Amino acid sequence: MENPLKLKRIHHVEFWVGNAKQAAFYYRKGFGFSQVAYSGLETGQRQQTSYVLSQGKANFILTTPMTADDPAADHIKKHGDGVRDIAFEVADADAAFAEAVQRGAQPAIEPHDAKDEHGTVRRAAVHTYGDTLHSLISYKDYQGPFLPGFVASPIAADDCGILRIDHIVGNVELGKMQHWADYYTRVFGFHRYITFDDKDISTEYSALMSIVMSDDSHSVKFPINEPAMARNKSQIQEYIEAYGGPGAQHIALQCKDVLYTVSKLQRNGLDFLRVPETYYEALPKRVGPLEEPLSDLRSLGILVDRDEEGYLLQIFSKPVEDRPTVFFEIIQRKGSRGFGKGNFKALFESIELEQARRGNL
Ligand code: FE2
Repeated sequence: MENPLKLKRIHHVEFWVGNAKQAAFYYRKGFGFSQVAYSGLETGQRQQTSYVLSQGKANFILTTPMTADDPAADHIKKHGDGVRDIAFEVADADAAFAEAVQRGAQPAIEPHDAKDEHGTVRRAAVHTYGDTLHSLISYKDYQGPFLPGFVASPIAADDCGILRIDHIVGNVELGKMQHWADYYTRVFGFHRYITFDDKDISTEYSALMSIVMSDDSHSVKFPINEPAMARNKSQIQEYIEAYGGPGAQHIALQCKDVLYTVSKLQRNGLDFLRVPETYYEALPKRVGPLEEPLSDLRSLGILVDRDEEGYLLQIFSKPVEDRPTVFFEIIQRKGSRGFGKGNFKALFESIELEQARRGNL
């Protein structure tokens, strides 16, 4: 088992957003994340305000700049709301940082103590695609509500059954997919899990290529997409132009009962991509018998794919900000460890419809 940085888990995903208070409300009321902790003016933090939200094992930090000269202000000006940091808990942040840099990662933040009255963690960070970071966090004696600098600020939400982050997809420029796949191999010791080329993933207009990189335990999976040449603009190119460069495209959230979770999210008002009705007419023949009633899948718009190991159920949100950038996937796995290759065509035709509405096809 190769795990040169001694990664333990995705500790959290930090979004830099224009209005963290409103974003926190959206993830609580829309997605069922409970608020856990807070950092801002009342806690002596004058530079940024942050809310920590969690559901199952998934932790999000929503951060907004309080001043124009804060780095988050530039990030938002360039990218809009987006993912700044996919942070890992590691065994030893100093050792992980040294090893990552030695293996070719660009250093972002040198190892340092982050501490408050609840104890200390060590933190460092390296760069990945675009302006995105991987923080490396190790615990020394910290016993507080989340991380040093945060105070407990609990607001319970109506849980939607989300368990954990399944995968996080990065969009990179044409010709850069292999570079970033190699980066995850060289620096993190990940291996190539699945590759999709433009023959797997292309419609008449919108093509992409993707390599799924995974750690050996398959607990951390990072697909890397690049646009592929087609008759018209790839959805990946649309993202890169709207985001102002490479970045995190979607976060897949794993749930234990997709019918329950998606019903709740839709009742909460979240918008999802819809595929044509014909998808459900062809479904029984394509995937065989399922435990879920076809009528429920059809009414909720849930997609199904099957491989040798089992099947998966998935659905994709529309972008969660005005720029066509970051969105979410809800996924339930019943044996399949795949990514829904059998759904790409129907899905991409649906995405193209949205692109055309946006005037970006
Ligand atoms: Fe996905």
